[in-house]
Amino acid sequence: MNVKLKVWRQPSKQQPGHFEEYEAKNLNANMSFLEMLDVVNEQLTLDGKEPIAFENDCREGICGSCSCMINGDPHGPEFKVATCQTYMRSFSDGETITLEPFRAKPFPVLKDLIVDRSAFDRILQKGGFISVSTGSAQDANAIPVPKVAADLSMDAAACIGCGACVAACKNGSAMLFVSAKAAHLNLLPQGKAEKDRRVLAMIDTMDDEGFGACSNTYACEAACPKGISVDFIAKLNRDYALAAVRTRLLGAREFVDTAA
Ligand code: SF4
Ligand code: FES
Repeated sequence: MNVKLKVWRQPSKQQPGHFEEYEAKNLNANMSFLEMLDVVNEQLTLDGKEPIAFENDCREGICGSCSCMINGDPHGPEFKVATCQTYMRSFSDGETITLEPFRAKPFPVLKDLIVDRSAFDRILQKGGFISVSTGSAQDANAIPVPKVAADLSMDAAACIGCGACVAACKNGSAMLFVSAKAAHLNLLPQGKAEKDRRVLAMIDTMDDEGFGACSNTYACEAACPKGISVDFIAKLNRDYALAAVRTRLLGAREFVDTAA
């Protein structure tokens, strides 16, 4: 199969970008989208041109790095898959495919399709961890965890931090990402001790980084390659309200790690 690519090229953060068109010919429909880009880049390199810069690592839907907009959709046309798990058979022979970086103020374009998602790292550094050693593996049932909580925590832990939820949201909100990262710790006994501090610090950092507010359009859930549910946003809002009452309004400072 053959496709035409309309690709956003931007040499650096400081320089303006523009679209350029390329032909990708004699493709196997079963090759992955990133393999197709490899073929295009090989030809560009042979022609002495600058290859298209795109991020990737695991190519197995695990690392969250291969983020880009394909025909206006974060990660492309398929449901619950990352760009690296998208195959050329999802497109038609002769189709023109438009490729752009994720567009969101807190994700500045570094080069071509690569954006700087370190704002996510800074949110995680504010609470996406348990600050004390929880020791080695416990004897069975030493810390009982209800199955429902364990299952929900695992669902939330599936977030790969790709940023598609932000790119899909008209407000550039990071609420789905933050809610998943907070929930997978908050739901488990080891994470509950720091729950209030975690939620307040992560949401404050999210706001400081310039992410927008959630207005419940659910575009984030639809674009998420891991199927993270917006139910976690509702849970985050509840956790935030309780944390705010306990720590900010009632002055229960013991819930807040002031060193954070
Ligand atoms: S919530 Fe989904 S879309 Fe957002 S960063 Fe996590 S995996 Fe990506
Ligand atoms: S390259 Fe790791 S999720 Fe796509």
